Amino acid sequence: PTIREYDFRLYKATLSPDGVPRTVYTVNGQFPGPIIQANVGDQIIMNITNQLGEPTAIHSHGIVQNGTNWFDGVPGITQCPIPNGGNFIYNYTVDVPGTYWYHSHYIAQYVDGVHGPLIVQDPADPHLSLYDYEYVVTFQEWYHNTTEDLLHIKMSANHTGDSPIPDSVVMSGIGQYNCSSANGFNGLSCNSSVTPPTYVVQSGKRYRFRIINTSADNHFYFSIDNHTMLLIEADGINIKPVTIQKLPINIAQRYSVIINASQPVGNYFIRASATTACQVLNNVTINIDHLESLNWNATGILHYEGANNSAPTSQEWPDTSEPTCDDVPDASLVPFVANPPPQNVSQQFTFNLTFNGANQSSPSIFLVNNSSFSPNFISPTIMQLSSGVSTQSLAANQNVYAYDNTTGGVELIFINANGGTHPFHLHGHSFYIVGKGGNGTSPDPSTYNLVNPPLRDTATISSRGWMTIRYYADNPGIWLLHCHIEWHVEMGMVVQLVERYTEFRQRTIPSSVKNLCQSSSSSTTSTT
Ligand code: C2O
Ligand code: CU
Repeated sequence: PTIREYDFRLYKATLSPDGVPRTVYTVNGQFPGPIIQANVGDQIIMNITNQLGEPTAIHSHGIVQNGTNWFDGVPGITQCPIPNGGNFIYNYTVDVPGTYWYHSHYIAQYVDGVHGPLIVQDPADPHLSLYDYEYVVTFQEWYHNTTEDLLHIKMSANHTGDSPIPDSVVMSGIGQYNCSSANGFNGLSCNSSVTPPTYVVQSGKRYRFRIINTSADNHFYFSIDNHTMLLIEADGINIKPVTIQKLPINIAQRYSVIINASQPVGNYFIRASATTACQVLNNVTINIDHLESLNWNATGILHYEGANNSAPTSQEWPDTSEPTCDDVPDASLVPFVANPPPQNVSQQFTFNLTFNGANQSSPSIFLVNNSSFSPNFISPTIMQLSSGVSTQSLAANQNVYAYDNTTGGVELIFINANGGTHPFHLHGHSFYIVGKGGNGTSPDPSTYNLVNPPLRDTATISSRGWMTIRYYADNPGIWLLHCHIEWHVEMGMVVQLVERYTEFRQRTIPSSVKNLCQSSSSSTTSTT
């Protein structure tokens, strides 16, 4: 194993990803941040210097942090925030190959730019012989305001709970915006013709694209004109290859596809199109006419070597069915190596997901089992647990679900009483999706797939639907479980799973982690 060291200085810079200047929260001045590249088994050292002017914490999404829960990067849960001007080192091993990403887990900071790809290569990847080169593509909706401003409006009373309306979509940090539709840029310049990101291919070669949806709020369809895609990986799990034309991808999910540069030499559009129907679903009341007038698509260019530089004229693959807000169907996500879920369950929790937007004197919230979460940055769960606070008293105000049982699997059942779809992410584990159902149905154990179901770390619960997942309780620690729609996180759609707490309490928290809490509590006392 190799030690991979990355020095990341986080600071604000004025950038124009879509031609419109704004304050972007950068990693080393870049948006998106630099790629972390490692081989399976390597040790990652992320040395964070925080110069954002506000606290931060960095989560490595999909990395299971076995034995290093304190480096999971969730402020209020696994650490105190890294204060402005502070320094902190994340130090962990990457045990499972695949496509991941790192992102700030402090309020909505990642949406302002603090994120980047994290790629774990496998010299024994079973699909290695199917491709010659690889690229990484990220995309997300983009706002001309910072999330601090957006949340200020959104989380106020008398607000319906609507998601903020994006201004554009960026692919690998680059987007297009029609400046003539802009209203005032504070005297700053606006560029309507930013060059799209270009991916160069050689005729006859095969390319793996690692695709990451880094959005706050948007489900997307990804496609490349005239090129079918061979889907081979979902969230770090190799799957049996499936040929597709359009890839649905929800927030925080990752997929790998292989394309063959076998078309006539030329230029072709690469498309990331936001599925606006889901945006409408996720809102309570919204002006749909306004939504439809927006261009929520990002384009890149697949450029064959030897082609001229003229703009592509290629056409998008036609829709073969109505676009859904859901994931790639379970039947197309069969793990490459059969991997059975726990056959028995020794711990089961049911999570009822509801929305409360009726009370116009306070902000709209989401609830899980009638409780809406907000983090305690001063006294994170990890410090409370280690100082002996009982899991029962943590549960009372912190949405804690604790279990010590290690004999069977853990089963989580989600029941969505809400009309929106919710991409749920579990920290610390990949989970088996043993069952799923749509609109108005209830969980039906007789339909569960206990043979070789999809295994991943972020999966979509459909509108008024349900989902049942299982995993092995093999990773003591405090693992966040939340909808990855960032606005829903801020509205409380979060719980904490405290796994094998008796064992976890015995572990020694590194002093660098404890020290973060000392600096944040001393700065709190000095200002009061
Ligand atoms: Cu992508 Cu809780 O994180
Ligand atoms: Cu949600």
